[in-house]
Amino acid sequence: MLLTVPALVAATTASTERAGVPKRLADTGLYANFAELQVAADNLPFSPQYPLWSDGATKRRWIHLPPGTAIDASDVDAWRFPIGTKLWKEFAFGRRVETRYMELGANGEWTYATYVWNEDGRDSVLAPERGVRGLLELAPGVRHDIPSVSDCRACHQGAPTAVLGFGALQLSSDRDPSAPHADGAKGGELELDALVRRGLLRGLPDAFVEHAPRIAASNPRERAALGYLHGNCGHCHNARGPLADLGLALDYPLGEARGAPALLTTLGVASKFRSSAHANDVRIAANDPDHSVLARRMASRKPLLQMPPLGTQIADDEGLALVRGWIASDLAPLSSGASMHSPIPDLDPLAKGRRP
Ligand code: HEC
Ligand code: HEC
Repeated sequence: MLLTVPALVAATTASTERAGVPKRLADTGLYANFAELQVAADNLPFSPQYPLWSDGATKRRWIHLPPGTAIDASDVDAWRFPIGTKLWKEFAFGRRVETRYMELGANGEWTYATYVWNEDGRDSVLAPERGVRGLLELAPGVRHDIPSVSDCRACHQGAPTAVLGFGALQLSSDRDPSAPHADGAKGGELELDALVRRGLLRGLPDAFVEHAPRIAASNPRERAALGYLHGNCGHCHNARGPLADLGLALDYPLGEARGAPALLTTLGVASKFRSSAHANDVRIAANDPDHSVLARRMASRKPLLQMPPLGTQIADDEGLALVRGWIASDLAPLSSGASMHSPIPDLDPLAKGRRP
């Protein structure tokens, strides 16, 4: 069903009663002056260095920490935020389309909401909990969907922290110049060293205060490819969330000393899913992106095959070229005794599949 914005506003006002969730973006505290779209001074802008691909949307993001509070950064890969933390992410396709919102309630649970902008950009109202299909045409036959709250949860509750783009690696001051789609920190955006200086982080391990975190890789393309997988896939595919049993970890945990899980759990590791068309499929076959399930699924937008499964309808050509180039040139095949032809990969992903 396609809803025009005025119809959406009507539907929203009529049927969206979500306890404690503001009905309009103007009431979430993002703006000091909504008519002039002037963001309140205590909402701090930030950009993750490895952003999520969302069909080419340009994005802006802000965080609000209640005065006098700080983030507990002692688990470097899963920061704990103070009650009352708010985060916003604005999506624009030429014009502002939606602004997503998360708030940490007194019960320790995150609220997820998204606000749809009028075409004239003068108002932005709460979307229904089920989302809105086909709100805006992105390309012939392809329309942008406003995600449902269960889609928000599928991505944001798949890792040990619900906040995905505001963490030590994503905010590192040692930014990756080869990261696809990075906006780059514009002047005044928060980075890790500024967070430390301003006393907004507690317990960050000293090693990351002394040296800005950075992905260890054998060359710049590998660094960017591992970062891309971390930012686009690692929130579902990691060893600490609900999908851990799949034994596929594409995140880059700074607290791990064992090397990138995205290599350990893919290179020469048989796919768990067999299609008769592709016997002996492996997740990543060194030098062979065409026979790497990971690259094939990134390239697909067939609903049952595509990766990520949510939040995108157009394959990310730039991200795909990076990952394919990395697979084609930077990886050495496993020498012998590899899991290439073993029926099912070991369930402990980190125990299996070493880089030679
Ligand atoms: C396909 C997975 C996916 C879906 C679906 C999704 N998000 Fe996110 N979201 C992410 C990722 C990954 C980031 C961090 C990277 C970035 O911002 O580019 C993020 C960032 C955010 C941020 C900034 C704070 C943070 O976690 O970094 C907010 C706010 C947000 N999302 C809200 C929402 C809401 C509300 C919904 C549902 C209406 C939603 N998201 C749906 C993956 C998703
Ligand atoms: C919203 C959560 C989510 C995100 C984000 C996500 N995936 Fe997945 N992925 C899944 C689920 C669930 C499965 C298992 C079901 C299936 O195969 O579709 C899966 C399966 C896979 C498999 C098959 C594993 C095997 O053994 O063959 C690969 C490869 C994969 N994903 C790669 C990726 C890549 C690459 C990205 C990022 C570009 C990504 N995924 C992002 C949820 C996700």
